[in-house]
Parts: sequence; structure tokens; C-alpha cells
Amino acid sequence: MATLEAVKYSRGKLLVLDQLRLPHEHHYDEVNTAEQAFDCIRAMRVRGAPAIAIVAALALAVELHHGACKATTVQDTISYIDGRLDYLKESRPTAVDLFNAIAKLKAAIRVSPSSPTDIISTFIATAEEILRLDLSNNTSIGAHGADWLTQQYNLSSSNKISVLTHCNTGSLATSGHGTALGIIRTLHSRQLLYHAYCTETRPYNQGSRLTAFELVFEGIPSTLITDSMAAALFKLRRESDKIGAVIVGADRVARNGDTANKIGTYALAVLAKHHGVKFIVAAPTTSIDLETESGDGIKIEERKKEELTQISGAVIREDGSVDTSRTVRVATADQRIDVWNPAFDVTPAELIDAIVTERGTVVKGPNGRFDFKEVLPERW
Ligand code: MRU
Repeated sequence: MATLEAVKYSRGKLLVLDQLRLPHEHHYDEVNTAEQAFDCIRAMRVRGAPAIAIVAALALAVELHHGACKATTVQDTISYIDGRLDYLKESRPTAVDLFNAIAKLKAAIRVSPSSPTDIISTFIATAEEILRLDLSNNTSIGAHGADWLTQQYNLSSSNKISVLTHCNTGSLATSGHGTALGIIRTLHSRQLLYHAYCTETRPYNQGSRLTAFELVFEGIPSTLITDSMAAALFKLRRESDKIGAVIVGADRVARNGDTANKIGTYALAVLAKHHGVKFIVAAPTTSIDLETESGDGIKIEERKKEELTQISGAVIREDGSVDTSRTVRVATADQRIDVWNPAFDVTPAELIDAIVTERGTVVKGPNGRFDFKEVLPERW
């Protein structure tokens, strides 16, 4: 396999990699309808803020391409599409990329709609543009983030950096390259990366199942730790292991810079502050929510208790090899215990040093606040 792709798309056909089966199996599901996309997103067969938006938009594009909309007037066509988009909006509540994509699609089909066919063509073209733009956004984020770190630490091939990341923000969470993992990839390709550490990211293990897999796949020097080892990692005194930056993604950046991301991100930001390590959020502008003033306004998804009380994985044979044909689910706790399982937390802006977008790196101004005017003049 040459590249890792969360989605494979050609007009009229969408294949989505089932991330629940990774890293042991590479199975793509055909997604032809909004209902199938909804299930895929809700069940986390696809996850990651940009990838969720891409799958929702493209699934509806496929459905429309195959004639699902029978409306004969402009108004009915718009109403049909609005209804399907509103349905998809309910799939997961925290990542704002989906909501921004929906707003973009709704706006696009309202620009001089001349006929139902014209509206459907516009929808499909806009959904395809969302896919295309995400890839170029990610490569730009990688470059801006690597530039910023190079400047902060005077990085060179003889003065490299080690970083820690959380959750999965790579090719699997996006259309390719990734956001936080995109910066790590770019640092590596510029020979500026000494070592990447990734957390396991309990309870869903996006770090161990997906990021570790991507890092190994790319041949990036890397080490997996459990979430609870981060503080000890910051204390390591060996020069080569010294973490220079924590780089994470975002599901939603509020207007003041407060950032919702995978549960555990906030704890890493507190640790980074304590140890004087830079804390960087990598997020396309599609993850910025100017309508939400602060993190207090972000809805945090809570997921089912079984994600904490059970775990599934492939069977290990006697000789240590992995039998990818068989997965088992095992209990890891008394099944009667009450569980709190928030999927995300909010890192306050005060703990974030920089927010890297495809349009540049945003740092706090003299008033100590983030200001996204420069990167989002049209939405400000
Ligand atoms: O629950 P998930 O796996 O969808 O959560 C993903 C994250 O929190 C990522 O860090 C975020 O979406 C950024 S992906 C580029």
C-alpha cells in the first residue's frame, strides 16, 4: 500500500476505510447514502474533524449523483438537500468542520440556482472542492508549523526537535498528510525531527491504533507511550528525548482560541506549561468557530460506557504473530461500574502558544489574546 487514505473518491463512488479494523485489516466500505455516512461517522469507522466533514459532504454528493433527489423545482431541490445536510449534522456534535462544511454547501447551492440539475452539479463540485482543499490545507499547515518551530528553536539537521502528539491527526483523520501529524511529517522530511512520541489516547486508542500505525508506515522515528506516562516523559533529561513541543489537532477552536480536542489534550497542555514546553494546536481554518466565543460554548460529546469497560483487538498467536482474521472483545472492568466518557476536553487559550492554520501561524497579540482576523478576514 503506497499511501494511507481514509477515503477514496471518484465522482459517483465513495470508499471509506473502516478505522475500527485498523491497524490489522484494511477494509473499505462503499458509502452511497447520507444514512450510510451517518452510521459510519457515528460508529467512528471514520473519525477526525476534517474526515468527518469530507465523508458527510461526499456521501451526499454520491447520493445526488445517482439521482436520489426527485424534486422538480429549484425550491424543492434546495429543501431536499438542506434536509439531508441537517440530518448529517446530528452525526457527531463537537467537531465544527462538519458544520462549516454544511454551511458552505448550503450557501453554494443558493448562489444563482437556475435548475435542479444545476443545483446538484454545484453541490457535487463544492463537496469535491472540500476534499481537494483539505489536502492542500494540510500541506500548508505542515509547512507553517515546521517554519514556526524552526524559527523558535533555530532548528537544523544538527539541532533537531522531539515532539509529543495526542490522538490521530494524520492521513486517517483528513484527506491526507494531516494537521498536527502533518507538521511532524514535514519536520521529518526536512530532517528537523529527532523523535516523535505518541500517546495511546485512551479510551478509544486513536494514538496506538492509528497514529502509531501511521508513524511506523512512514518510517518516522517514534515511540508509543500511555497517556499517563506524559509527565514522566517531560522529566526525561536525555537531550535526545527532551520534548520541545506538544503538537495536537483540534475539533473546534472558539473565537478566543479555547480549543476542543480529544480527551486528554487539556492535561497535556497543563503539563507542557509546567515544564516550559511549547504547546501548539494545528488546525485548518475549517476547525475555527467564530460564532462560539469561548470553550464554554462547545458541546462535548459523551460516548458509551463500553469504550472504557471493554476493549477489542486481533488475536495474538502462541508465536507472537498477529492473527488478523480474528478479533475479540474482552472485558477490562466490572461491567456494572458507572462510567463518564467525554470524547473531548477544552484546552484554555492561555495554555496554547500557537495555532497553526493553512493561512499562517496565529500567536497571541500584546493583549495576550488570539485574534483570527489575519487568517479569516472574510469571516471576522
Ligand atoms: O473522536 P475523534 O477520533 O474523531 O477525535 C479526533 C480528534 O480529536 C483529532 O485530534 C481532531 O479531530 C483533529 S483531526 C485532524
